[in-house]
Amino acid sequence: MSLIRISRNAESVAKSLAVAALCASGYALAANPPPPPPPPPAGPAPGSATFPDPAGAWSNLNAGGALAGNPFFVPLGSNGRSCASCHVESDAWTATPPNLQRRFQQSTGADPVFASIDGTNCPTLPIATAAEHATASSLLLTKGLIRVSLTPPASAQFAVTDVVNPYGCTSTTSVSVYRRILTTANLKFVSTVMWDGRESLSGASIPTDLIHQAGTAATTHEAASAVPAAAVLRAMELVESVQFAAQTADGIAGSLSAAGALGGPQNLASQLFATGANDPFGVAVPTPGVPPNAAFTLYTAWDTVSGKDPVSLRRASIARGEKIFNTRPVKITGVAGLNDQTAPDGQMRSVVVGTCATCHDTPNAGSHSLAILMDTGVADAARRTSDMPLLTLINITTGATLQTSDPGLALTTGQWADIGKFKIPTLRLLAPRAPYFHDGSAATLDAVLNFYEKRFHLGLAPQEHADLLAFLNAL
Ligand code: HEC
Ligand code: HEC
Repeated sequence: MSLIRISRNAESVAKSLAVAALCASGYALAANPPPPPPPPPAGPAPGSATFPDPAGAWSNLNAGGALAGNPFFVPLGSNGRSCASCHVESDAWTATPPNLQRRFQQSTGADPVFASIDGTNCPTLPIATAAEHATASSLLLTKGLIRVSLTPPASAQFAVTDVVNPYGCTSTTSVSVYRRILTTANLKFVSTVMWDGRESLSGASIPTDLIHQAGTAATTHEAASAVPAAAVLRAMELVESVQFAAQTADGIAGSLSAAGALGGPQNLASQLFATGANDPFGVAVPTPGVPPNAAFTLYTAWDTVSGKDPVSLRRASIARGEKIFNTRPVKITGVAGLNDQTAPDGQMRSVVVGTCATCHDTPNAGSHSLAILMDTGVADAARRTSDMPLLTLINITTGATLQTSDPGLALTTGQWADIGKFKIPTLRLLAPRAPYFHDGSAATLDAVLNFYEKRFHLGLAPQEHADLLAFLNAL
């Protein structure tokens, strides 16, 4: 009920902003004002919809105004792209390889998402024929990766001395890295914007960061000649901040909000977010290092499910997986941003016995509730596959060298200690948006768990692994 009320208010704001946006982008307004629109239909706002995914189905709840006409969906530059070329609602507000492949085939590469500016592995690759264009777009087609070009600050503590790049983007000053398109749903729960947090380093509020980010996205991805007007940016931020998307049904367990369970976007929309909530290292917390409280409490009602039918067995498995996520000890070592002096409270701890929730601590969302980034080793040279770049960095003071496929936060801060740090992403809406990690290096959630198994020696029994997987698929 309350959601619908909010949605109507936001709708009128969004509408006036959309009009302002269209004026700003040169559209003429009709001389006679159009008749007032009919009252919105009862029920969820347009943009609320349910989509199938490999684990069952997920739903989007648009808790704001109409999506149509918002500049998020309107090309703002010269290459035909809008935000929605890459952040596609039906594709979990990102773009996934199966759908990108379909789009390439249907358009023989003419879909603007494949623009060579950053949709191909390197803008210098030939794209004259569809076959060339497909080859040039291999990272987008296979892993959903966009090329991001970043220049370390002049004051950086390191220099990039060598770039191995299979596609020719070998500049050591404008460094090319390849990143998964982040979902633009559930942004209520982010404490850092972009994989490397580069849009949230200023200490401004997240809405302010998102407004700035939209301007950068328009001038880079969309090749807009100038940053759009403030009202346009604000309109985009407005739609972004009110999309709630989550798994609603599991193929076996059925509805994820049945029998007291709290899955689905409606529950997510009413979940509060507070900076620092549930953080085990923040200044307000008395015992740093102690595992946080349960991060997820969606499926506690299923703890006691005992039937032997497939639905009951699956519900019990999801509930056990949630418990494992919250409580299974994880011996965390070697993580910059947690085990070193760059930890949030400045304390160096070579071992932190935590849980998945030590890092993914935001209640029922799984992002980190503080704006901190960590290096769990995803970009380590040892994990690099031959389709990814290999960068060699030298520390200007110590002469130490390091190799990585993506320096992460360090490309923006210039700090040696920030190499390989990435944000702790929100864990809702996982099933429809494989592959995972900033570089799409985990093709499935099973591969994500195998990464953690190897990295932190979790020692999960096969049934525990399956339970944790069932839980992640129910987010
Ligand atoms: C060509 C594809 C593409 C287009 C077009 C695009 N984005 Fe993105 N978006 C990305 C990629 C890739 C990332 C992650 C990049 C990174 O972290 O370095 C991203 C990240 C984001 C994020 C960060 C989310 C988070 O959790 O931190 C927001 C917000 C966002 N985009 C909004 C927009 C808006 C608004 C527009 C239109 C003005 C837009 N994007 C256009 C590819 C795109
Ligand atoms: C030391 C901190 C830390 C711990 C512990 C941790 N994670 Fe993560 N997690 C991260 C970071 C950082 C990323 C992003 C890494 C990247 O892309 O480079 C991430 C990414 C993920 C992703 C991918 C999400 C996406 O959108 O691509 C999943 C799923 C995930 N973690 C699940 C888990 C589970 C399950 C556990 C417990 C077994 C766990 N994590 C433990 C820090 C952590």
